[in-house]
This record gives sequence, structure tokens and C-alpha cells, in this order.
Amino acid sequence: GKPLVVAIDGPSGSGKSSISREVARRLHAAYLDTGAMYRAVTLSCMEAGIDLTDSVAVEAAAETADIALSMSPNEEWVRVSGRDVTDAIREPSVSSSVSAVATTLGARAELVRRQQQLIRDSGLRIVAEGRDITTVVAPHAEVRILLTASEEARLRRRGIQLGGTQSAAALKEQVLVRDAKDSTVVDFQQAADGVTTIDSSDLDFEETVAAVLDVVFSST
Ligand code: C5P
Repeated sequence: GKPLVVAIDGPSGSGKSSISREVARRLHAAYLDTGAMYRAVTLSCMEAGIDLTDSVAVEAAAETADIALSMSPNEEWVRVSGRDVTDAIREPSVSSSVSAVATTLGARAELVRRQQQLIRDSGLRIVAEGRDITTVVAPHAEVRILLTASEEARLRRRGIQLGGTQSAAALKEQVLVRDAKDSTVVDFQQAADGVTTIDSSDLDFEETVAAVLDVVFSST
């Protein structure tokens, strides 16, 4: 068939993972969660006792990490050296350290290369989401979307996702501080040329999926 690469970027708490996964299901496409790869490298570094401020060591860890992840929207798993880390990479300790890997340019270069290979391996029918998919990983994607939401909506959604047990301060740390750190190397706050912005602040899950599919069908 014709290539259909749908690139979706956005800040944390924008709902991009669950939305992208559902859009992939509806399109019978593969799904790539690039954030899971940054998280997997971060977990590997933490377990190996690597100093996350040592960019040479972090880059080497990214280059040698044996990461496998599901590219089916219907099953979620991530493995490092064959070990299941699906839940471990979502731990708060990983979330609060992942920006250190994401801001190591050599590590980014390696993960971008791998992501581009995974997109090619999908047969170019895929929904890929992250922070730099529309701009760096797949700037020539058939569909490029920036999924945004107000700060208030993002904090509320991430709070619900984490089971409603976090304090407001902890949530802010996890959402806003991480976005601020990530923003030093990738711009996912404003849409690049040719990228369609969808603001999901006042949309529910179904409405947001429909808005993304509208962009897909109107641009292909
Ligand atoms: O999407 P998620 O919140 O799981 O991403 C985790 C982290 O991975 C982000 O906070 C960011 O540091 C990094 N990331 C990135 N570029 C991507 C995807 C994720 O830098 N394309």
C-alpha cells in the first residue's frame, strides 16, 4: 500500500500515547512509542550505576542497549536484554531522570537512528509519537500533528493516570519540570511548518481520536 506515517508530538500529559495507540488501531497501522526507548536507556544506565551527567558514558549506553519493544497497538511490552521492563520504565525514578538521557545529544542521535529504522521496518504504515517525530525522526511523514493541551488539563490527566495519589507539587515536578528540561533540546511546544496543532484541552478521548483521524483523512 501507499506509505502512511503519522507523526505525533506533544508534551507530557497531552494524552499522546493513548491517543496514538488508538489511532494506530483504527488505521490498522503499527505503533511506536519513542519515549519508551528513552526510558529504557535511562533504566539501563541507572541499573548499571552510570552517572547520567557523564555524556560519553550515556551515549555509549544508548549505543549498546539491547532494547526491544512492541510495535503492535494491541500489546504493550518493552524489553531490555530480554528482560521485561514494561512497568519498571514508568517508575517515578525513571520519569525524573529521563531528561538527562534525552538531553545527551549522542544518545538522541542513536535513538533517532533506531527509530527511523523501526519506521522503515514497519513497511511505512505506522503511528509514531514522541517529542521530535514531526521535526527530526520523520519530518517527511504524510501526516504531522502536534497534540497540545493546557497546563491544567495536562496536570489533571497525568494525576488520573498515576492513580490520583500524587500531590500537586509532585505532579508539577513530573509534568512541568520534565517538559522544561526536555525543551532545551527539542521544541514540542509550538508546531513546526506544515504541522497541524490539535488542542485537546476541551476534547474527551473519543473527540481527540476523531480530530486526529480527521487530519489523517484530510491530508491523505
Ligand atoms: O513520552 P514519554 O513521557 O514517555 O517520554 C519520556 C521522555 O523521553 C520525555 O520526557 C523526553 O525526555 C524523552 N523523549 C524525547 N524524545 C522523544 C520521546 C521522548 O526526548 N521523541
